[in-house]
Amino acid sequence: MIVLGVESSCDETGLALYDTERGLLSHALHSQVAMHEEYGGVVPELASRDHVRRAIPLLKETLARADLPMSAIDAIAYTQGPGLAGALLVGSSIANALALALDKPVLGVHHLEGHLLSPLLATERPAFPFIALLVSGGHTQLMRVDGVGKYTLLGETLDDAAGEAFDKSAKLLGLGYPGGPAISTLAESGDPTVYKLPRPMLHSKDFNFSFSGLKTAVLTVVKNHEEKVVANICAQDKANIARGFVDAIVDVLTAKCVSALRHTGLHRLVIAGGVGANTQLRASLNAAAAKKNFKVYYPELEFCTDNGAMIAFAGALRLQQNPGAAKREYGFNVRPRWPLDQIDTPAT
Ligand code: KG4
Ligand code: ZN
Repeated sequence: MIVLGVESSCDETGLALYDTERGLLSHALHSQVAMHEEYGGVVPELASRDHVRRAIPLLKETLARADLPMSAIDAIAYTQGPGLAGALLVGSSIANALALALDKPVLGVHHLEGHLLSPLLATERPAFPFIALLVSGGHTQLMRVDGVGKYTLLGETLDDAAGEAFDKSAKLLGLGYPGGPAISTLAESGDPTVYKLPRPMLHSKDFNFSFSGLKTAVLTVVKNHEEKVVANICAQDKANIARGFVDAIVDVLTAKCVSALRHTGLHRLVIAGGVGANTQLRASLNAAAAKKNFKVYYPELEFCTDNGAMIAFAGALRLQQNPGAAKREYGFNVRPRWPLDQIDTPAT
C-alpha cells in the first residue's frame, strides 16, 4: 500500500510517499523560514498562501523522485492538527480534493503522532514500549508509548515549549528566526562558567516543565549587562549567555527524561520534534544513556523538524492497524488544538 503524506501545519510544506512494503519512497519539502524571517516569526496568513503555492509542485516532485504516476497512490494522509488553522486547511483541502479525484481514501493524522513515530523511519528502530520526549516549537511533552496509538502523557510544559524558549531567547540575543539552531551554534563558543541560569522545575518530582522563567532570566542578564542593549554586547559575551541558556535547558530536559525512564522502568528513549536536532541536547542525552544504561533513538536529522515523511508514515501505520481508518467521505475539519491524549476522540 502506497500512502501519500501531506504536511502543512506550520511553516513547512512536506509531501512524501511511503510504501508499507518498501518503506519511504520519496519526499519533498519546502521551508518558509526565509519568508517569515523578516517578520521575526511565522505570519499565519503568509504561511497558508505559501502552502497553496508549494503543495502541487512538491507533489509532482515527490512522484517524479519515486518514478510513480499519481494513480499509484492508494491512500492519502494529511496533518489534521494541531497547528495553524489556515495552514492546516490548505493541506486538508488538497488531500481531500486529490483523494476525491483519484477515488482513494483519505485520513487525518495527528502532527505530534507523526513526530513521535518518526524515529521508526530510521535504520535503527526502537521497539515498543519506549519513553518519548517530544520537543517542538509548540510542544514539550514526555510520553510513554506502548504502540501505535497507545500514548500516555507523563508530563508537559506548563508554559513555553522548549522550541519557543530557544526562539524567544535567541530573539533576545538579536539572533534571527528560527532561533534554535542559531543560539545552539553560538553557544558552542561560549564559556559555561560565566552565566549560570536557573534550571526551572529540575527538582519538581514530576515530569512537567516550565521554560518561560528561563527566557526571562536571559532577558534579565541582557538588561543588567553593562552594555544594556544586546547590540553592544561583544560576540564572546553573547556566546557566553547563549551557553548559559543552552546548558540550563539541556540539563532540565535530560534530567526529566532520566527520571521518566527510572519511574517507568523502561530503557529506551525516543527524541522527536525540532529541538531533537539540537547537538548539545544529543550530547547530554548520549552521555546520560552511557552512564545510566539506556538507549536513545533519534529521527534522521531531516525528519526532526516538520516533514511529509512522518505524516505518510504515521498514516500508513494507522492504516495497517485499521484499514477502515481512511474514509471516502470527502470534506474535512481541521483540529488546530488537538491534545495527543485525545487522539482517538472524534472531531466535533
Ligand atoms: O518540530 P518543529 O519543526 O515544528 C513544530 O512542530 O513546532 O520544531 C521547530 C522548533 C523551533 O522552535 C526551532 O527553533 C527548534 O525546533 N529547533 C531547534 C533546533 N532546530 C530546530 N532548537 C534547538 N536546536 C536546534 N538545532
Ligand atoms: Zn512539528
